[in-house]
Amino acid sequence: MDKQQRIIQMFNDISPTYDRLNRILSFGVDRQWRRNGCRAAMKIHGGPVRHLVDVATGTGDLILFWREAAASQGTTIERVTGVDPAVGMLELARGKVDDVTFMEAPATALPLEDDSADLISISYGIRNVVDVEGALREFHRVLAPGGLAVILEFMSREKLTLMDRMNRLYMSQVLPRVGAMISRDKEAYTYLPESIQGFMSTEQLCDMLTRAGFELVEVQDEFLGISTRFIARKPAASASQ
Ligand SMILES: C[S@@+](CC[C@H](N)C(=O)[O-])C[C@H]1O[C@@H](n2cnc3c(N)ncnc32)[C@H](O)[C@@H]1O
Repeated sequence: MDKQQRIIQMFNDISPTYDRLNRILSFGVDRQWRRNGCRAAMKIHGGPVRHLVDVATGTGDLILFWREAAASQGTTIERVTGVDPAVGMLELARGKVDDVTFMEAPATALPLEDDSADLISISYGIRNVVDVEGALREFHRVLAPGGLAVILEFMSREKLTLMDRMNRLYMSQVLPRVGAMISRDKEAYTYLPESIQGFMSTEQLCDMLTRAGFELVEVQDEFLGISTRFIARKPAASASQ
């Protein structure tokens, strides 16, 4: 099994306890980061959404926040597609979110047509994609000109603030223990802090987005930089690569 397959298998294994653990381990603050991300992007998009694609959708949480953001701005989302390569996660998403087409696929090979989405989101998923550049190129292909890519992620940092140090301590000492206790999967919750530390910095992801043909619209840290959101646009004049 290659690295990407092992990561997907791990998410399949932890899927039954994923939602519960997410809420416990983040103290529920991830809800605010999701809400802020969807509202900010919806405001920038500024009108009805014909097609929203949530990649690495997991149990479908972000879709609920997209719908809430649309309702709060008095607009609508016509069609929603949720994509994830882990069937265990998709099964839970199907039981939780209505009126969504769910597809089993990786971020690097979306089974969707060129220029067919207004919004593509990926929350806390891009760090699990081994070929990040391939995924960004794929988002660019599937987005319609003028469409937005929205990424929420825990980025690695070179210079650590006191908050970063406390967060690292929590991630490396508390999170693996609580995660292992509830999910009975020690490896998965050791992988999480390692995957954050081994992931790229905000600047590196910005460079990759630009190289993939995107214009950066907004890069915003949440909670003293623990989570970062990126909103990037496929230029209006741009055709799929
Ligand atoms: C930490 S979960 C995030 C799920 C959801 N977006 C959320 O915010 O709760 C990461 C998700 O990425 C998915 N994933 C792993 N490798 C992937 C890949 N190559 N392409 C797309 N999704 C992937 C996993 O199956 C898992 O559902």
